[in-house]
Amino acid sequence: MVRNHSVLIVDDEPSVCFLLKEELSELKKFNVVTVNDGAEAMNTLQQQPFDIVLLDVKMPRLSGMEVLKFIRETHPTTPVIMLTNFADVKTAIEATKLGAYDFVGKPYNRDELIATINRALEHRRLTIDNELMKYELSRKGGGKEIIAVSAAMKTVIATAKKVASSDSIVHIHGPSGSGKELIANLVHSESQRRDHPFVVVNCASLPDTLLESELFGHEKGAFTNAYQMKQGLVEVANGGSLFLDEVGDISPLVQPKLLRFLEMGEFRRVGGTVSMRVDVRIISATNKDLNAEVKAGRFREDLLYRLNVVTLKIPPLKERKEDIPLLVEHFLNQKLKAKQTKKIDNEALQALLQYDWPGNIRELQHAIEGAMLMSHGDEITANDFILTQTNVVQETIFTPKGTSILTMNELEKIHIEHTLKKFKYNRGKTSKALGITVKTLYLKIKRYKISTPNEE
Ligand SMILES: Nc1ncnc2c1ncn2[C@@H]1O[C@H](COP(=O)(O)OP(=O)(O)OP(=O)(O)O)[C@@H](O)[C@H]1O
Ligand SMILES: [Mg+2]
Repeated sequence: MVRNHSVLIVDDEPSVCFLLKEELSELKKFNVVTVNDGAEAMNTLQQQPFDIVLLDVKMPRLSGMEVLKFIRETHPTTPVIMLTNFADVKTAIEATKLGAYDFVGKPYNRDELIATINRALEHRRLTIDNELMKYELSRKGGGKEIIAVSAAMKTVIATAKKVASSDSIVHIHGPSGSGKELIANLVHSESQRRDHPFVVVNCASLPDTLLESELFGHEKGAFTNAYQMKQGLVEVANGGSLFLDEVGDISPLVQPKLLRFLEMGEFRRVGGTVSMRVDVRIISATNKDLNAEVKAGRFREDLLYRLNVVTLKIPPLKERKEDIPLLVEHFLNQKLKAKQTKKIDNEALQALLQYDWPGNIRELQHAIEGAMLMSHGDEITANDFILTQTNVVQETIFTPKGTSILTMNELEKIHIEHTLKKFKYNRGKTSKALGITVKTLYLKIKRYKISTPNEE
């Protein structure tokens, strides 16, 4: 079952509304609301956004054109199909100029109308994707493969699929790079909302006031620079899912507003006076310990309880190393062009299995991509990998001095030694990789008394 699209029909003739509603409802993919008056249409739209509006042009009090202008200003992502008399081509053209998606003549042909509605919904989807891309906020749900053989990950995936069909709030906890967004995506794409937007908001990347107006929108003139009314992401996500990433970083100022939204399903645009309702499923994620954040007074306890209805815990990669070989193969195949083959040798795989992956799967992905660039021929060897400095520090954490803290100079020395080894002591390549000149490298080798095989 897929969630229905919401349709608002505005026509002063009750019989037209009735017939349209009957015909669309029969298809079982639309939830239809009808109103007989332009002003009522505006009121309804102020309280609840719709996926599409069918709008009669000729209505006694407020004309369809006035309502169209209002919708274009306040609900830029909602397509409007005008219902016009066949004779009235001039008005139809004018309406398209004002931003109507299309027009259908009355009396309408049922199949033609449905085809136009479907096209308009596709247009809406593209408009939303486009809108979100401007903010680099969203990727569409679905389509991303999740690789897992470990029992721990299989349980996470099975639970995610199970809870997907309900509308309950899902919270995902896991360390950085462990696949939180991928799992959030899975919850959305396995839910009945899969044909509606999956909107990602990174709560840590926006300052307080901006986060509030991104989430809930703002009215024209709500604050300096609010030159135009702006729809909030909760409205854009209507019918779909809203992924609140890094929710542990949401500021104390915005927390009560989010809580109100979660509790009542209601919100107000910044500077707005009307409460609006949307139908959005919330998925949140963080790598922070929210209980500790509550204790420290940075996160509201009531908000934590609201978010924590179902919690999915993603284990760090080091606790599920059996996933590594398949992930390696997956990332290798992802980067290779058709017909190309590249294999990883056993020694390299052993090294990857021993490493602790503080940056989890994202780090593994980058390590593979890097190694593919470094490798010659069709085999990737252990030498082709540069694992992060954390690794170097871990390997050498007990330095000759026996202390566990390295000075910056010691760390630099180790890093240079490691990189020199990696590039088989080729100073040109080493200095390039380190982002310094050959001369600086030479001076540092002397200063740290690094022994190199080709030293005289
Ligand atoms: N099980 C998996 N199978 C395949 N790819 C994965 C898997 N887990 C994570 N990835 C990939 O690793 C990268 C990081 O995953 P994702 O962005 O979901 O992690 P995250 O926990 O949200 O990270 P961050 O805390 O940095 O936001 C992505 O490119 C994702 O596609
Ligand atoms: Mg993430």
